[in-house]
Formats: sequence, structure tokens, C-alpha cells
Amino acid sequence: MSLSYGIAFVLLVLAVGLVFRSTLRSSMYTNTTEVLEQEWAAVRGYLQIDGNRTVWFFDRNDSEEAFFVRRLRRIFLLADSEGNVLEVSELYAKAGVEPREVLKRMVGQHKPLWRELRAPDGARYLVRTGVLVEGRKEYLLTVGRTLADNERVLDRATKTYYVVTPILIVIFSLLGWWIAGRALQPLNDVTAAASQITGTNLKLRIPARATGDELDHLIERFNGMVDRLEHSLIQARQFSADVSHELRTPLTTIRGELEVALMTATSKEEYQEAIAQAVEEADRLAKVVRALLQLSQAESGQVTLAREAVDVGELVEAVVERFAVQAEAMEQEMRAETQAGVVVRGDKLQLDRLVTNLLTNAMKYTPEKGRIRAAAKVVEGAAVIEVTDTGRGIPAEHLPHIFDRLYRAPDHTRDQLRGLGLGLSFVNWIAREHGGRIDVRSEPGRGSTFTVTFPLVKKAEMGAGGGRGSGEAHLVG
Ligand SMILES: Nc1ncnc2c1ncn2[C@@H]1O[C@H](COP(=O)(O)OP(=O)(O)OP(=O)(O)O)[C@@H](O)[C@H]1O
Ligand SMILES: [Mg+2]
Repeated sequence: MSLSYGIAFVLLVLAVGLVFRSTLRSSMYTNTTEVLEQEWAAVRGYLQIDGNRTVWFFDRNDSEEAFFVRRLRRIFLLADSEGNVLEVSELYAKAGVEPREVLKRMVGQHKPLWRELRAPDGARYLVRTGVLVEGRKEYLLTVGRTLADNERVLDRATKTYYVVTPILIVIFSLLGWWIAGRALQPLNDVTAAASQITGTNLKLRIPARATGDELDHLIERFNGMVDRLEHSLIQARQFSADVSHELRTPLTTIRGELEVALMTATSKEEYQEAIAQAVEEADRLAKVVRALLQLSQAESGQVTLAREAVDVGELVEAVVERFAVQAEAMEQEMRAETQAGVVVRGDKLQLDRLVTNLLTNAMKYTPEKGRIRAAAKVVEGAAVIEVTDTGRGIPAEHLPHIFDRLYRAPDHTRDQLRGLGLGLSFVNWIAREHGGRIDVRSEPGRGSTFTVTFPLVKKAEMGAGGGRGSGEAHLVG
């Protein structure tokens, strides 16, 4: 690219040089003709023609005037109307005086004539010929000027141009190269820093230069990306550690129980009990593995969701209904508070799962006589599902983690509450897939509120693009 720029630039310089030279030449030529015109007219003031003789009048003490006349006579020819030469200067004679016939014809032409004379030594003169009327007679007067000065000026200017310009080009190219190098230096630094960052070395960041320019912006973005990478890497590591731990515990328990039974059990009942416990643990293990598998399939995009219009109010009512007996058994007061027209676009099965998970949590973490409320409503143009309980709440330090896979806030009071720590991970994924957002407010000892906000489907949109099954008919109505 630099090369093509260079070639283009050199061609441009050449072209500019040529244009410059021809402009200079034509303007100097015009200048010369103007001067010559004046000199031709000035001759009258100094020359008198007396028959066949020429007499020059001027103040010989005035050196300026004397010089001027001398210059007038350097290239000079005066002929009468018959073509007889009355006076000719030495230089003119050298360049060759025209034959008499030609001179005579020129007198007859009666108009100024411009010519170029060329002396045998190569010198060139521009001459103006015109008819001079003196008394009754006509004379042919030719005055000339050398073009050598012009040529010299032209040559010198051209030479200077073609010598100085390349030097300037070289200087500016070097300067440009240097400046470009300096300008690109930060980019090279960034590249060097970036290439140091590896999977095991995600702690490194590219130092910003605090100039606030585009490059700093890029560095900032890049560092942000590494932050996120590092975060997901840490999460992935944490996750595999948690999984191993999660799987090891039941395995150890199973092994321990069976071992104890093997060594100490004597009766059939004791063996049965040990085996039953082992089966329970194995079930749990299988559940964890299945749920984890489902979750990673979901999160890696292998689950396709339906995009039908789902009436969330109805959904919440249905789920509450399903849990009514269980809640009653636990002496919890559970109710649904729903509005009509809370419709979101999505997968009914998954939304059901979301509400179910929130409700199971609420029931699980709320003691007897507690109150649980599941609401579906429209808030500020959005569809909102809200599950509130008066349970044990979640301590602030655990709040940021409850959506992490396998995370369970420690609970020392009710060990039978052991869950998998995956419910909220599903809730989180489902909400996200539906363009929703989850907020949790919780006060330890007083209760928690989980709020999921979804984009609301407007009445006009309903039925378009989504929907299947029989629930649709009354949704539209
Ligand atoms: N309504 C709630 N009140 C108090 N703590 C809660 C509530 N919901 C969730 N938590 C806390 O968040 C943790 C994570 O919840 P999550 O539903 O993901 O797991 P889990 O209920 O323990 O197990 P499971 O996978 O069976 O649902 C719970 O262990 C609990 O400590
Ligand atoms: Mg749960």
C-alpha cells in the first residue's frame, strides 16, 4: 500500500512539475512580448531616419538612457519599403537577415509580426516586426530580445523543483514513517499484553493509558471481556468442584451405611433398613445427575421453547391449586392473587416449572402457620409473577449466590430440607429465556419475595405467531 501511495505521489509530483514549467514558460513569454512591444514603440523616441541614414538621439551623459538605447540596438533591423537594409545589429546579422524580397513583402503586410530567430550558435531571439511611418515613407522596423534569460530561469526553476522535491519527499516519508511508528506503538503494546493473557493467566489486564481515546476504549472493552471470561472460568471450576463434592457425599454415605450393615447387622430388618437408605441416597444421586444434565442441556441451547401466548394468571392459579393439599398438611396458608390479561409469550411447561420451583421453595423454607402468596399482575406494562412467603428468609451474604448451580444457603435447623440446589438455577434460566428478570427481596426471619418480570403480550399481538392448543380460544376472548 505504501508503495502504491509512493508511486502515485511521484507521478503527482512529476505532473505538477510539468504544469508548473509550462505555466512559467507561457507567463514569461507573455512578459517578454509586452516588454518588446514597449521597446518597439520606444524606438521612435530615439531614432531619426534621414534618407538612407539612421541617427540615434539620446543623452550620452545619462547612463541609463545610453544603456537603454544600446539594448534597443542589440537585435535590431531597419529596412526601407524596398527591402533595403538601413541598419542591422551584429547579433541580428549573425542570425541571418532575410532576403530583400521577403523584407519588402513584410512592409506590405502592415501588421505587427512576431517571429523567433535562431542564431547558428543556438541562441534564440524573439523579434517583433512592424511598419514605421516617417514623413511619407514607410520603414520596416524589427526589434528583438534574447530568450536565453527566459530559458535560464525556466531551467533553473525546473532543476530546483526536481532536486528539492525528491529530497522533501524523502524527508516527509521518513517523518511520516516515524510518526506512524509512534502512533502504532500503543497498539503494539496492547498486542503484546494481549498475547500474554492465556487460559491459566486470566488475571492479567492490559493497562489503560488514560488518554480516553479510541484505543483506551478498546482496551477497556477487551479487559471487560477478559473479566467475563475469568468469571465464567472461575464459575466453571467452582461448578465442577461442587459437582464432585455433591456426588461424593451420597456415595460416601451409601458406602458407609452398607459397610456398617455388613459388619454389624444381624437381622433381616437391619439389612433392609440399610439397603433402603442406600437406595434413597442412590435416588438422590440419580436426581442430581439428571437435573444437572438437563440444566446444562438447557443452558447450552439444546432445549427449544414454544412461543405461545400463556396466561400467567391461570398458570399461577393452577400451580397453587396443585399444592393446596400439601400446604394444608403443613398448615400453611397459601393463596393465589391473579389479574386477568397477564399474558406472556413462551413455553407453558417451562413457565409452570418456574412457578412450581418458586412455590416449592416458599413452602420448603416457610414454617407451619406461615403465609405464602403467589401473584400474577401487570406492573408498569410488564407481566409480573411474584411469590412471597413469611419464611426464614435468606441472609444477605447468600443472596447473590442462590441462583448458582448447587448452591444452598446453609440451614442448621431443618436438615430434612435438603434440596439439590438446582431449583433456582432452572428458574433463572427459564426467566432469561423468556426475556425476563428476577429480583429477590428477603429479610432473614421474616420472609422472602421473588419477583419475575416478563415482557407483556399486548391484546393485539395475541394469537399472532404463537399459540397452539385449546387454551388459546379463551385467551383471545
Ligand atoms: N423462599 C425462600 N426462603 C428462604 N430461602 C430460600 C428460598 N428460596 C430459596 N432459598 C435459598 O436458596 C437456596 C437455593 O434454592 P434452590 O431452589 O436453587 O435450591 P434448593 O431449594 O435447596 O434445592 P432444589 O434444587 O431441590 O430446589 C436454597 O437452598 C435456600 O437456602
Ligand atoms: Mg428449590
